[in-house]
Amino acid sequence: MTRGEDPAVGSATALVVTTPAGLEREARGELRRVLPGAAARPLFLKGNVLVLTDLSESEALARLAAADTQFVARVAAVQRKAQITADPGCFAEIAAAAADVGRLRPGNTFLVRCKRRGRHEWASRELEREVARALEKLTGGVGEYESEVDWLVTVQIYQEVAYVGVNRPADMLHRTPTRQRKYAPGKRPLNRAQWKIREALEAFQIEVPAGAKVLDLGSAPGGWALVLAELAEEVVAVDRAELDASAVARPNIRHLRCRAEDLLGREEFDEHFDLLTCDVNLDPSEAGAIMCRMAGMLKPGAPAIMTVKYTTRRRRQHEQRAREILSAEYEDIRVRRLPHNARETTAVMRRRAAAPPSK
Ligand SMILES: C[S@@+](CC[C@H](N)C(=O)[O-])C[C@H]1O[C@@H](n2cnc3c(N)ncnc32)[C@H](O)[C@@H]1O
Repeated sequence: MTRGEDPAVGSATALVVTTPAGLEREARGELRRVLPGAAARPLFLKGNVLVLTDLSESEALARLAAADTQFVARVAAVQRKAQITADPGCFAEIAAAAADVGRLRPGNTFLVRCKRRGRHEWASRELEREVARALEKLTGGVGEYESEVDWLVTVQIYQEVAYVGVNRPADMLHRTPTRQRKYAPGKRPLNRAQWKIREALEAFQIEVPAGAKVLDLGSAPGGWALVLAELAEEVVAVDRAELDASAVARPNIRHLRCRAEDLLGREEFDEHFDLLTCDVNLDPSEAGAIMCRMAGMLKPGAPAIMTVKYTTRRRRQHEQRAREILSAEYEDIRVRRLPHNARETTAVMRRRAAAPPSK
């Protein structure tokens, strides 16, 4: 660790441990039992714990490897901590930190692996490539792309902090926890999509009043519909695919087994909905066009949420195109990448109360 910056000062060993999210408290208790006297504190992201112990690194790793743990997933010893910047300026500091560990010798082979949590202007791959290049110069080591190497250089990033480890590949502990996060009965999420809609409602501060009527396009298997049905009076879920039994069982979810476009012309839905959501797995231009065609079903000024799926690597173009198309019927369009967005981002907007100004 960088001296003077971290409570690891004075501790012989620091370990980054991943655990099932939601069971960090139990994991920290287990780690303290296996490593008596150790301190274990949560890191920036759920399911990530930093363990500081006065045991030597080899002793701590041997005890963990021998222990019959329930909550431990991955364990990586880390020897340095570095500051992360939004731009790639921090790569040199990370390489210097890894070199400073003093394990990489001229001719040793190594692989740099970066696990990034948070938002940065660069990708993990860029960091891996640039840090490997710099490390070659600093140590005379040989950067490789395969895992058959003398040393594994791990860079675990938690927003603005990186924990850097230089370890023998055999010393990286990886096991499947036997205990997983517990959910209250009926509360286990159906899919990752459920997190996305919760995050969108929170991040964009969208209120769903108890009496609200929601139109959910591309609903199956029903993750969004389930979340929305907890808040709204009725969710009309549109998808040709089947909904999960948990969604079918909800009395306020009405499943229309058709494509979104098939609803056009149904007068009962004219300006009927208080919220329109759309997670169709289509190119953003197509999804945006559907959103525009359906806009008349939404009350003027009411909010809409759409995921912008990256169907190619040209992410910015997809976002830009979606914005252009959506602006015909919507205003106040905001696009934000949410924690559970994978190859996509989330757009939130309001139906225009009046026609867009002519250019
Ligand atoms: C990513 S999944 C949606 C997941 C869903 N939001 C959830 O929370 O479970 C995309 C869905 O879009 C549906 N879809 C694609 N094109 C559609 C269209 N034109 N109209 C309605 N649904 C469509 C697909 O059948 C698929 O089930």
